[in-house]
Amino acid sequence: MSQQSIESLLKESRVFPPDEEFATRAHVRSFEQYRELYDKSVQDPEGFWMDMARGFHWFSQPRDVLQWDPPDARWFVGGSTNITYNAVDRHAQSLRRNKAAILWEGEFGETRTLTYQQLHREVCLFANVLRKLGVRTGDRVAIYMGMVPEIAVAMLACARIGAVHTVIFGGFAADALRDRVNDAKASIVVTCDGAYRRGQVIPLKSIVDKAVAQCPSVRHVVVYKRTAEPVSMEPGRDHYWHEVVQAVNASSAPLPVDSEQPLFILYTSGTTGKPKGVVHTTGGYMVATAITHKYIFDLHENDTYFCTADVGWITGHSYVVYGPLLNGATVVMYEGAPDYPDRGRLWSICERWGVTIFYTAPTAIRAFMRWGEQWPMKHDLSGLRLLGTVGEPINPEAWMWYQRVIGNGRCPIVDTWWQTETGAVMISPLPGAIPTKPGSVTVPFFGVVPDVVRKDGTSCAPNEGGYLVLKRPWPSMLRTVYGDHDRYVNQYWAEIGGSEGGIYFTGDGARRDEDGYFWIMGRVDDVVNVAGHRLGTAEIESALVAHRAVAEAAVVGRPDEMKGQALCAFVTLRPGNQATPQLKQDLAEQVAKEIGRFARPDVIRFADALPKTRSGKIMRRLLKEIASNGQVTGDTTTLEDLSVVARLTAEPEE
Ligand code: WTA
Repeated sequence: MSQQSIESLLKESRVFPPDEEFATRAHVRSFEQYRELYDKSVQDPEGFWMDMARGFHWFSQPRDVLQWDPPDARWFVGGSTNITYNAVDRHAQSLRRNKAAILWEGEFGETRTLTYQQLHREVCLFANVLRKLGVRTGDRVAIYMGMVPEIAVAMLACARIGAVHTVIFGGFAADALRDRVNDAKASIVVTCDGAYRRGQVIPLKSIVDKAVAQCPSVRHVVVYKRTAEPVSMEPGRDHYWHEVVQAVNASSAPLPVDSEQPLFILYTSGTTGKPKGVVHTTGGYMVATAITHKYIFDLHENDTYFCTADVGWITGHSYVVYGPLLNGATVVMYEGAPDYPDRGRLWSICERWGVTIFYTAPTAIRAFMRWGEQWPMKHDLSGLRLLGTVGEPINPEAWMWYQRVIGNGRCPIVDTWWQTETGAVMISPLPGAIPTKPGSVTVPFFGVVPDVVRKDGTSCAPNEGGYLVLKRPWPSMLRTVYGDHDRYVNQYWAEIGGSEGGIYFTGDGARRDEDGYFWIMGRVDDVVNVAGHRLGTAEIESALVAHRAVAEAAVVGRPDEMKGQALCAFVTLRPGNQATPQLKQDLAEQVAKEIGRFARPDVIRFADALPKTRSGKIMRRLLKEIASNGQVTGDTTTLEDLSVVARLTAEPEE
């Protein structure tokens, strides 16, 4: 984050009290009521969470709420449930039977509605398909699809039979897909023939073919036909979705699973080149996603809720699929790009479906700002009553624009802080209760105890920047990194206070102001948030050094007005290679091929050497400064060769 934006956050003093009319209808109506519930939730967390868990169906009731053996937690111990019973069957058996669960809109404007009854049927059918293909409890199923309702159906079908889904974002390239499928040892891949994006077809099935050729664990590939473009189908291995569902019946009882049964693995970027398979389990994740969705989005029976996230990311898991469906909500799901066929597309969706709650990312809001007010102005957005944002710090200017132009000054904004690892929102306003300040994520959700601390674990003073930590376990916390429990312990729990101290390190920098409000300052580790995508710089570096011309690479983030952060790569070449514009393009392509187009560096700079310490560590801090300001002001006394920095700062970036 640039000095300028830190200062503007520091200067921000506007406060917006909750709208009175909104508050009278809200689940939580005043700061006092929030305070009372929050205090109860931290004074008696077990009582609080047990109360919350009572809103769900358990085949057998939990014996204990929490077993906490830091850093290992078990929630709703001894309980058995099935998340799809709670997210689908319950509603399909109630007055919500014919309520829309998913309102889907394709990029070309075609629409589909799945009621809870229909969703139930689809989930049962696909659960039976998975069973028939040999999927057993605990087996991993990889899902690599576009934004079609079947992506949710596939996830729920896995959960119904106790299989573990791992959704891989459809923007990942074949190599990245292969690595994730292999790490999870998935036996099945569920995909689409292709996906539409800005009118173009992304050939998902042929990407799967390339990846799966190197995935020994994969026995079957199921292909949902979306584009009807020709694809190659390998007999015995590949099956069309529409054909295999014909061959099964629609009765499928949900399997009662232990509360701690793994529900899914979701790969996310960390500080090493190898992505982490974040593991979430069933009971705690179910209770926390549903409860946060209900209170933070102040969900009511007749709301129409639209979250623009792709299901391939955690926001899509928790707040397109599980949270809303657990609450019996109506979810709008849009397949394509926000500027297709024009820049008013999302507003047109809000108008036509009567969206009441809209949830998106700051990078999207900044794009809307740049596109201009004329696009939302063309549409009637008076149905909106609540706006949300997630994924990166929102600059106060973008917050104000969102509030004024999209919310017409009426809608509260919930700026929700959380992570793949937390599973559910941890810090956010409750819209009827908490006065908001543009750029602040405000106060913790029930049961969550965040703090801002120094490296030694002591709490920072008000407005002193430090590390954001969580001091209590919470139901939707990750349980491990798949296949690498040591990484779980070391990465998240050992950093502050030692691995048995039970303090979770988020990787974010933050401060807490004099009112106790949290302000997130961005990542302090080598993870960058670029245009709503979370990327590890180490992953991109390892893609770059895989190119034969590259000797060394260092990738850093730098502030970017549009994308939040931009990626800047510094590359040194092996002898005999020329630093040409063509090579730059080749390197960008290399990253696109190994990870995906969304991870291509914005700037690639060739250098004859990288700044290093005497012990040979690349000094990224200096590269960050060079990338951001073109110069270095920090301490350079540990630098091995000062002239390296002099040369880098002397050369302007192209
Ligand atoms: C950042 C996305 C500021 C943060 C749900 C976190 C935010 C990372 C906010 C997780 C917010 C998320 N304000 N920063 N409201 N929400 N972040 O795993 O750096 O893709 O650690 O989960 O996004 O990204 P992830």
